[in-house]
Amino acid sequence: MSKVLYIKANAKPEGISRTFKLSDSFIEAYKSSYPNDEVITLDLYKENIKPLTEDDISAIYSPKTDQSRNHPVLRYAYEFAEADKYVIAAPLWNLSIPGILKLYFDYVTATGITFNYTSGGGVAGLLENKKAIHIVTRGGEYSEPPMSEYEMGDKYLRVLLGFYGVNDISTFAVENMDRSDTNVEAVLEKGVKELQEKAKDF
Ligand SMILES: Cc1cc2nc3c(=O)[nH]c(=O)nc-3n(C[C@H](O)[C@H](O)[C@H](O)COP(=O)(O)O)c2cc1C
Repeated sequence: MSKVLYIKANAKPEGISRTFKLSDSFIEAYKSSYPNDEVITLDLYKENIKPLTEDDISAIYSPKTDQSRNHPVLRYAYEFAEADKYVIAAPLWNLSIPGILKLYFDYVTATGITFNYTSGGGVAGLLENKKAIHIVTRGGEYSEPPMSEYEMGDKYLRVLLGFYGVNDISTFAVENMDRSDTNVEAVLEKGVKELQEKAKDF
């Protein structure tokens, strides 16, 4: 049985968000294919996530003990480490991820939980055999150069997840959502169908 962490990062709710229309369809199809798996939904806007305080930073970088699992600041890092699969739903905002998702990863990136410093002065990810999908919609198009250089949301997620040791990462992007000549409903329906297929093998 796998544990799936479904991380939702958007101020716009279900029914409004195009990204969530895609990602919710993916999750529903996944649940049908894997009814015994546990899916934990983390809607970051409902979590009241705040920027790290100085005390939070101490907790994140201090040595971990048997009691650390119960520390409220470390909750997101342990929950992340204990999951097997990640579904990250985040639209492109200002060439990157929504700020709340960055705040969330500031909690997840904790020594002794998702990564560690090595004796040689380097860093090592602590997560193994995990997989992730980033589901994203974008107003414009960033799939080809030179615009692909401007896209730093998916790039950031890939580098950060790789830093934790998560290397099996896929991206499902639906672009040109804000172009007047895009038939948004039709493009989303096509995306939903493709994702329903992808969910069977996730
Ligand atoms: C705050 C904000 C910033 C955005 N920045 C970009 C951007 O840099 N590039 C882009 O192509 N679209 C940008 N968009 C458009 C969204 O990526 C696009 O409309 C997307 O489909 C929104 O997804 P949603 O319906 O799930 O919210 C931005 C939208 C918002 C609200």
